[in-house]
Amino acid sequence: MTSRRKIFIGNWKMNKLPQEATAFCEAFIPAVKQVTQADVGIAAAGVLLPALATRFRGVQWYAQNCHWSANGAFTGETSASMLKSVDVCGSLVAHSERRQMCGETNQTAGQRVAALLNSGMQAVLCIGETLAERDSGRWTDVLQQQLDEGFTATGIKNWTAALGNDPERPLLTLAYEPVWAIGTGRAATAAQAQEAHAFIRGWLTRTFGPEMAQRLRIQYGGSVTLQNVDELMGMPDIDGALVGGASLKAEDFAQLVLRGAAAKR
Ligand code: PGA
Repeated sequence: MTSRRKIFIGNWKMNKLPQEATAFCEAFIPAVKQVTQADVGIAAAGVLLPALATRFRGVQWYAQNCHWSANGAFTGETSASMLKSVDVCGSLVAHSERRQMCGETNQTAGQRVAALLNSGMQAVLCIGETLAERDSGRWTDVLQQQLDEGFTATGIKNWTAALGNDPERPLLTLAYEPVWAIGTGRAATAAQAQEAHAFIRGWLTRTFGPEMAQRLRIQYGGSVTLQNVDELMGMPDIDGALVGGASLKAEDFAQLVLRGAAAKR
């Protein structure tokens, strides 16, 4: 029996205009109201967040990126305190699309995590290997390097303090998202995902000890759908899902969250 509280986040990416987002929330939020045993969030484009976070309190709102500096000459960027000021609870960090297209590195990922945690906000740090890295058998090396470099770059020494006061909701969540499974319709099998999550939890245990390793939540992301959510969320080390394509339709995503939250492990 795992006691970690599951966490489901829809990653809308660069989708939805304001009226589409509003219509989604009007259908989605009542449909997931009964989900009290898991956290439910949506990562929306920055331009949507202030209006949505003010109006719709029934889900947690996340940004898709957050700069590490408090303020300054960073054209196009948004700081943690700006997000906090409009009731955004946290941000995704280093999604593979940002690693591939926007020059995100393990170093910058760690700096973003630190900025969020230091502001008392949630950080969802995304890691995962490419298809070539999986096929060549190097996937554990890749995950290890992303974790080693990313955590070192945070500069955080006192993790107990950095993770905040809520034992059920540590401020850091990891998201294992194999690049080959994102948006491809080819999800990792439950066994593959569990193996990777167990590897990540093993790294956490070696680095921080069993208490922190057992407490931190590790989401799976990559082609999660209504068809595979039960099996994936039944795995002992999978603590929720980061969902792209299947989070865009309110009814479907609500079903997915209900099923995933209820899955026994
Ligand atoms: P997908 O995306 O569910 O569409 O594969 C997941 C993600 O990119 O977070």
